Amino acid sequence: MRTLVLGAGGQVGRALHALLPDATALDRTAFDIADPPAVDWGAYDVVVNAAAFTDVDGAESRAADAWRANATGPAVLAGAAREHGLTLVHLSSEYVFDGTADRPYTEDDPVAPLSVYGASKAAGDLAVQGLERHYLLRPTWVVGDGRNFVRTMLGLAARGIAPTVVDDQVGRPTFATDLAAAVVHLVTTGAPHGTYHVTGGGEPASWAEVARAVFALSGHGDLAVTGTSTAAYFADKPHAARRPLNSVLDLSRAEKAGVATPDWRERLAAYVRAADGAAR
Ligand SMILES: NC(=O)c1ccc[n+]([C@@H]2O[C@H](COP(=O)([O-])OP(=O)(O)OC[C@H]3O[C@@H](n4cnc5c(N)ncnc54)[C@H](OP(=O)(O)O)[C@@H]3O)[C@@H](O)[C@H]2O)c1
Repeated sequence: MRTLVLGAGGQVGRALHALLPDATALDRTAFDIADPPAVDWGAYDVVVNAAAFTDVDGAESRAADAWRANATGPAVLAGAAREHGLTLVHLSSEYVFDGTADRPYTEDDPVAPLSVYGASKAAGDLAVQGLERHYLLRPTWVVGDGRNFVRTMLGLAARGIAPTVVDDQVGRPTFATDLAAAVVHLVTTGAPHGTYHVTGGGEPASWAEVARAVFALSGHGDLAVTGTSTAAYFADKPHAARRPLNSVLDLSRAEKAGVATPDWRERLAAYVRAADGAAR
């Protein structure tokens, strides 16, 4: 499998490159997905797009940048994949949904984004879904090597700061290494093309519960994480993006295809152990 990984400087891009050391992995400075450099597309079978504008709040005031990376970029890649007969793997987000459902979202649920980020990701989804040979994976709450919620909580815990965290947004963390493994599994097993929801498994939890787990696992369980509502938390942040309250995705299609969805609590424990080891 001759693979081109784009967005290689991000959390998922790094995990993909670690899993596919023989792949060509290019970060934003080497390959802008919205304005690609000259490429020998014939040198590849599969293009994995891990590039995106992921600053959800920043996208509210930088819509052009968000749409460029999240909609134009995937459309450009879909065009190249169509022209050169490549398989395109793309990553999306549960922010394409409005989070009002009282059950996990399936791949067939209609999108109804609440934010600029969500709308730009939904547009990218449509561009990729128009291609026959595609895999579109939707993770939630990604945790890898880079900026993420767990790292932020570990930083606060290390400084002895007990945070206030929303307790009415519910979902499941997705570890970047598991997402990368899911990409490789789908492509190498020749799973049916299409959209797959791929997140950590196990019981969904609120952000506050995830924070409490991080504090407990890192030996700071004595610091109390205070829960609050999304409405209260963002009341003094008028420029923040609206967020779906229900981020839980139905994993049955991915699991039927043999994708592993390890319990997020076990993966979190391993991640915190590794972070602790690296800090020593
Ligand atoms: N992070 C999450 O919690 C989360 C949740 C659900 C879904 N997702 C989706 O999962 C995917 C991977 O996310 P991630 O957490 O790995 O994001 P990330 O760490 O922010 O990485 C994204 C990478 O894409 C690069 N990039 C931005 N615009 C680009 C462009 N035009 N051309 C090439 N590269 C560009 C960024 O470079 P710069 O840093 O230089 O801008 C960054 O290195 C994305 O599709 C995201 O929407 C993420």
